[in-house]
Amino acid sequence: MQRILITGSNRGIGLELVRQYVGESDVRLFATCRNPDKAQQLQELTDLYAGLIHVLQMDINDEDSIAAAASAVAGSVEGLDLLINNAGIYPKGAHQSWSIGKLSTADLGEVLLTNSVGPLMVTQAFHGLLHNGENPRVVMISSGMGSISGASVGSYGYRMSKAAMNMAARVLALDGDMRGITTVTTHPGWVQTDMGGPGAHLTPADSAAALKALIGRLRSADNGKFLRWDGIELDW
Ligand SMILES: NC(=O)c1ccc[n+]([C@@H]2O[C@H](COP(=O)([O-])OP(=O)(O)OC[C@H]3O[C@@H](n4cnc5c(N)ncnc54)[C@H](OP(=O)(O)O)[C@@H]3O)[C@@H](O)[C@H]2O)c1
Repeated sequence: MQRILITGSNRGIGLELVRQYVGESDVRLFATCRNPDKAQQLQELTDLYAGLIHVLQMDINDEDSIAAAASAVAGSVEGLDLLINNAGIYPKGAHQSWSIGKLSTADLGEVLLTNSVGPLMVTQAFHGLLHNGENPRVVMISSGMGSISGASVGSYGYRMSKAAMNMAARVLALDGDMRGITTVTTHPGWVQTDMGGPGAHLTPADSAAALKALIGRLRSADNGKFLRWDGIELDW
């Protein structure tokens, strides 16, 4: 049985990952989101695949919420095989970390907290369960915008947050306490979600299918890599 936890699973890439993983045989999914009561599409999937998807409340910026979800998962399985840190934000609008002259500590802090600190705290909370998993993997859903060599103008907060997420993945990959757990950071492509917008290149289904195939091919030799959805290794 594959035991998988996906954060931010109520919409976008996270929801599509849940949809595609639940179609596999012998899978147990922990689908976490901030507001399960409002996660209508996720609840519909849960009804369709009764017993296979466990919806759990988790706000990745809230340590108590992360701890409660971790203890709920520990109460139902002995180990976790795959953790997908998918939840994230992309601040939009003139006041939100876009360009110099419009930056604010609060906006920058929020995006850094959500996109880099949160996924690291989630990984910390689940690392014990991952040690009991089979071929355990941690997958960060980062962004090409987190590449320092590929930096471009604007989006200070988002670029900084994903670069910090990538660094967290690198350090996790080297951490003795994570030995045996393969950690990678990934770029899912430009995807037609609320975040990516309708003009993006990939549908959520295409991105999720490519990510799922990539995750299926991961080996311990991939530990610490920054990979594009199609498996190409990216520059930091
Ligand atoms: N779409 C793209 O083109 C693109 C490109 C590169 C990277 N990415 C990355 O891919 C991941 C998924 O993006 P997406 O396109 O699917 O975005 P999306 O449609 O905006 O969905 C974002 C998800 O993250 C959740 N989330 C945000 N803050 C959270 C928090 N504090 N706690 C728990 N959940 C939280 C949202 O939950 P709520 O519904 O509660 O807000 C939602 O489920 C993100 O990490 C994003 O940075 C996306």
